[in-house]
Amino acid sequence: MSASSPLTRRALLAAMPGLGAGAALGEPYEAGTLAAAAQASGREFGCAVSAAQLAGDPAFRAAVARECATLTPELDLKWTAVEPHRGELAFAPMDQLIDFARAAGKGVHGHTLIWHRSTPPWAAAALAEPGGWSLVRRRFSAVMSRYGELIGRWDVVNEPIDPDGAGGLRDSPFRRAFGDDYIRRALETARRLAPNAKLLINEFGLDYDDAEDRARRRAFLGLVDRLKSAGAPLDGVGLQAHLHLGKGRLSQRALRDLLHELAARDLFILVTELDVKETDYALAPDRRDALVADLTKSYLDAALEEPKVIGVTTWGLSDRYSWLQVTRADLERRPDAWRDGTSPGANRGLPLDAALRPKAMHEAMMAAFRSAGSKSAGDSII
Ligand code: XIL
Repeated sequence: MSASSPLTRRALLAAMPGLGAGAALGEPYEAGTLAAAAQASGREFGCAVSAAQLAGDPAFRAAVARECATLTPELDLKWTAVEPHRGELAFAPMDQLIDFARAAGKGVHGHTLIWHRSTPPWAAAALAEPGGWSLVRRRFSAVMSRYGELIGRWDVVNEPIDPDGAGGLRDSPFRRAFGDDYIRRALETARRLAPNAKLLINEFGLDYDDAEDRARRRAFLGLVDRLKSAGAPLDGVGLQAHLHLGKGRLSQRALRDLLHELAARDLFILVTELDVKETDYALAPDRRDALVADLTKSYLDAALEEPKVIGVTTWGLSDRYSWLQVTRADLERRPDAWRDGTSPGANRGLPLDAALRPKAMHEAMMAAFRSAGSKSAGDSII
């Protein structure tokens, strides 16, 4: 689809798998933003945010409104956040995030219904009791009925893979309570509650050409195949894409192969959590930004060749609020570096720096969307 396409943004967004009504109502995106560049390639751009970040930081809120078409709740929809104590539902932060999305005309990606790391301890213990599945059903129903009008797309199970686990599956409380079939059951349960929503599984560690990521890709495709042949209602997959400069070069070939395999299984694909962990914080900031940008560009150039990749979300928008922290081990690798009292600042693995200025990563993403534009991703969606 070219920039001169007669399709309106409303029509384009309405055709995006699982974007809710709010997304169709916003104003056109400002030129030079990631949302605009993604849209020109027939795709969407979004970022993960929390209600607290949005509420407490007007400048950040404005940056999110400008750059993004969709939002992913970084924390506020997780089971630990919504029901930290059994039966005490805490919806206020997620309600605020939804209100912001609605007012700003953004779509919302439902992250995440099941994740072993965001299962409250009371639930992890109770799942294995008789009738444990009713807890899963109640959890799904609580959030899907409340937010289903705006959220048309859900990460139903997050991070189910462990290549060393039996059948390539992680030994989570859900698997222990319900057996390997819990993923299919979760998809079926979600489908019954939201017949028109798009349902995904979301996974990390699928990016590099090392033994671990190769095994993870095999296990992931194996799971997809088993779900498909069991008739599970799986519409798409999320590739987290937490990249790491310490892991060396990315294998575009491995990524392309994975994307072809997924596309051949008739799934749409989202890059759901893109960011870059740095490794050498003693380099000059420009050099650090260039390394982050090159890695991002290499990933997206390969990913956006695949028409079934319909969107990219970064895990945060600005280094001001990144879950990636500079660790003690990072500092100890360069013991001489900060003797003069300077500091490495934040990890620089997101499109905007901590002062909300666009960095080289932002430009790299813009360029990747621009050069993917001619590949007509949108034509396969509409
Ligand atoms: C992370 C958040 O960013 C952190 O703030 C929180 O402490 C833990 O969860 N994969 C996922 C996300 O699917 O939900 C995680 O988010 C990052 C890794």
